[in-house]
Amino acid sequence: MLREKYLIYLSLSAAFILLIVGLACDSLTVEKYHAHGLVATSSPIATAVGLEVLKDGGNAFDASVAIGFALAVCYPRAGNVGGGGFALFYSAETGEVSALDFRETAPAKADREMYLDKNGGVVPNASLIGAKAAGVPGTVAGLHEISKRYGSLEWYTLLEPAIKLADTGFIVSDCMEQTLARLSDKLSVFPETRAVFVRNGTTPRSGERFIQKELAATLERIAMDSTDGFYTSETADLIVGCMEKNSGLISHDDLSGYRVKWRRPIHFTFDSLDVYSMPPPSSGGVILGQILKLIEPYDFYKYSPDSPDYIHLFAEVCRLAYADRAVHLGDPDFAQNPLNELLDSAYLDSRRQVINLEAAGNSREIGSGLPEQTEESESTTHFVVADEAGNIVSLSYTINDDYGSKLVVDGAGFLLNNEMDDFAVKPGVPNLYGLVGGKANEIAPAKRMLSSMSPTIVMKKGRPVLALGSAGGSKIITTVAEAIISLARFDLSLKKAIEHPRFHHQWLPDTLYLERGGFDINIMQDLISKGHIVKERDRYSDLNALRIDDNSLMTGASDSRRCGKADGY
Ligand code: GLY
Repeated sequence: MLREKYLIYLSLSAAFILLIVGLACDSLTVEKYHAHGLVATSSPIATAVGLEVLKDGGNAFDASVAIGFALAVCYPRAGNVGGGGFALFYSAETGEVSALDFRETAPAKADREMYLDKNGGVVPNASLIGAKAAGVPGTVAGLHEISKRYGSLEWYTLLEPAIKLADTGFIVSDCMEQTLARLSDKLSVFPETRAVFVRNGTTPRSGERFIQKELAATLERIAMDSTDGFYTSETADLIVGCMEKNSGLISHDDLSGYRVKWRRPIHFTFDSLDVYSMPPPSSGGVILGQILKLIEPYDFYKYSPDSPDYIHLFAEVCRLAYADRAVHLGDPDFAQNPLNELLDSAYLDSRRQVINLEAAGNSREIGSGLPEQTEESESTTHFVVADEAGNIVSLSYTINDDYGSKLVVDGAGFLLNNEMDDFAVKPGVPNLYGLVGGKANEIAPAKRMLSSMSPTIVMKKGRPVLALGSAGGSKIITTVAEAIISLARFDLSLKKAIEHPRFHHQWLPDTLYLERGGFDINIMQDLISKGHIVKERDRYSDLNALRIDDNSLMTGASDSRRCGKADGY
């Protein structure tokens, strides 16, 4: 009897252990495939909104518009109507990839010395906090352009889920509670922002219902009057009023004059893949291209995703690519971007010659620069959508820093971006992400600031197989590059590729960043012995991706670093 009990106990324990191991493995290895639609965003609420649109007969473009507005409500650290972004589209009808630029622009009153004091020094925080840090928002015009060119549902219906989320509220998640609490002091500076995010002296807690009536009214105006509901009339009056009160520069003319731009995507091959990504004013596509093309000839047989030799090679390649980023790139309507030259194979062959596989290079010998800024944030958000017809949207948008300029437009309920900091506010001086820039990215009226956002679509033999992108400031490009390499060269599953600990080098500061807790001491020591200055960074960036197999079945993955969700049906 005792023995029987013991055996039952043993088998129950074994079953329990198998269940736990199974669940743990499931989250990383079992990929669920879907035939009809797939959405991956940084918010489970927004993912559900996107799926509902698809199920209601909308296409991927409709869903992307609804997600964009929903994230503006339920993911305010980066989702927005007060910022801007970029999107790549694959149209099943034409078989073509197109790229939309709805990046913010500098106001007409902006000038290249606007953040400098009388001695030519950079005024601390001037390009980061408050109204003067904001560029003219492009998001509403961008989402409207998507709907106009590709959408199948009524504009108003695409805003309905967001209006409801703002008007009747949604339940605050643990993740949202944590980011809000972390930034509580900064969100308390402006009374308009306090009124939304720090009501009664505290930021919203997990489990509370968070209602945003003024934002609901703004979205309602956009729903009724499309772009006029934002760029002219009451919302525009509220934005300009906010500028006047807080010494900002955006005028009615800036708002009514804002235009999106269609751009030719960056295209290059990597192994047997055709990679399409965002051209300037994002540096994302061309720097991603440089990284992957520089690394392509190397034989990976002796590398693993964790091997110090691979991490070293990756860092050396990035050192070269980011050195080019600082000098050559800016808004193509203002600066010559030598894209063909930067991706030219003879040029990349010559650059590759300086890579030493045994020892770290010296960034100051490659170019010039100034010391690292200590405070960095890696905000922005990316989402992907695919529908049954085969259409794909890969969209990144941002208010730059977490919660942007920290200034809410009084009466309109949304945060303004602090994207002006993505300009080189003074050539050679590092921005929020430690990136330095030059003349190509200096401030000028109506100019778009250089970005790192890298919405990407990858094709194989003429069919889309992957769509991805990330948050992470300057670390966006390396995050996307690592994921593509992990999939193409290490054959990791999509989820494993996304969850793998990250590493980053951006030329200046001359530092190899390793994600904290992701690499053991032997790996770090090996990299230090190669001459790298190694620093650990808390978990950064936030990748959302989808993959399509040979049978047109879709699987998605959302980064656990920021609590997003991939789902399909
Ligand atoms: N604001 C971050 C980026 O556009 O790269």
